[in-house]
Amino acid sequence: MPVTCVVGAQWGDEGKARIVDLLSGDADLVVRYQGGANTGHTVVVNGKTVKLHLIPVGVLREGCVSVVGNGCVLDLKVLFEELEMLARSGYPVDPARLRVSDRAHLVLPYHRALDAAYESARGAGRIGTTGRGIGPCYSDKVAYKGIRVCDLFDDPSLEARVLSNCEEKNRHLGALGAPPVDAAAALADLRASRDRVAPFVEDTAAFLRDAIAAGSRLLCEGAQAVLLDVDHGTYPYVSASNASVLGVPAGSGIPPRAITRIVCVAKAYATRVGEGPFPSEETGAEGQRIRERGREFGTTTGRPRRCGWFDAVAARYSVSLCDADEIALTKLDILAGMERLRICTAYDIGGRRVDRLPADVGSLRAAKPVWKDFPGFEGDLSGCRNIADLPAGARAFVDAIEREAGAPVRLVSVGADRAQYLTR
Ligand code: IMP
Repeated sequence: MPVTCVVGAQWGDEGKARIVDLLSGDADLVVRYQGGANTGHTVVVNGKTVKLHLIPVGVLREGCVSVVGNGCVLDLKVLFEELEMLARSGYPVDPARLRVSDRAHLVLPYHRALDAAYESARGAGRIGTTGRGIGPCYSDKVAYKGIRVCDLFDDPSLEARVLSNCEEKNRHLGALGAPPVDAAAALADLRASRDRVAPFVEDTAAFLRDAIAAGSRLLCEGAQAVLLDVDHGTYPYVSASNASVLGVPAGSGIPPRAITRIVCVAKAYATRVGEGPFPSEETGAEGQRIRERGREFGTTTGRPRRCGWFDAVAARYSVSLCDADEIALTKLDILAGMERLRICTAYDIGGRRVDRLPADVGSLRAAKPVWKDFPGFEGDLSGCRNIADLPAGARAFVDAIEREAGAPVRLVSVGADRAQYLTR
């Protein structure tokens, strides 16, 4: 602290929420700066699992204020469902503990409809989106057609813009063979949400700068990951926001110079959900074993995740781009009992050794991993609380990841519960 950023170093699902939850014990505010309800953040507190898509994980810490920043895209229906779920789970959220940016863009029904229609039109070239309307909502933002939270409170303008957007989107949907959205219903839903969301709305960028000036400790909670970042990821197989640490200032209003600590979260293996190149993918029995042991199924969509070995080329890229101070390594326990462990240390592309992540999908698809193999380790790691408690094979694997990825591994998680981790 005072401003710590936690970002994913792979293709998402690294266990960022688990690390944010841990670090939020020392935070006053937890800030989401990008993404929307495509996110699936799972935290296990005292054996109880809570899944969040939109609201920052800080909401699970009493005394912590959660902020949904201007860079997020907000689906009000999901927001209200999540607030209700939290209240039912024993975490009621009053508006003082959740501030929502007046500048965040709203996800409307036509965004979801277009997301589905574009995906089906892409056919074999589909991205494998979560279907939450994320890409179309960010597209409208940069095409100057977005509807923001603050627009809810100017009714004549809201009506004109929603109706005109619906008309335009329905033309697109029609051309794609998809049914139109109901403009009147979309407008009525927004009007009905207005009073409910109003108490949460804030100029969060100013709020955060004031908090920094007052000495508050901030934790920025990245969603998705560097390799899904729209500018720096494996484009076009990415999400539509700046998920790397570079998105923090733009998506929250936190001044770049205020950031003091950058943590890249990586799993001890790799997964990817949706389409796109994945050089270290393991489609055989070892991948299947990782999927089952690691329960690698999407939190948002339930899709089985593609599994593979730790890709040091990708991790190095993320660590370097984010200028990470450290790595938090998750799910090491899942690898116990595997006969051998692998790290992809470089790519072989057309007979050439490549140490850096190429920009184009063609090269990534052609990339064959250059493997480094390690003997497996045995045992239940979930009780380990010191690095010395880990089996020698696990320690050697962590050392290798640290060496290959280019930043110290300071935290290792060995189970889903809050307490199941060790520091080094
Ligand atoms: P979208 O964000 O729904 O547009 O999906 C674009 C790509 O990002 C797809 O490959 C999704 O599977 C992936 N994606 C989006 N959010 C997450 C996430 O939270 N974890 C992992 N993958 C994600």
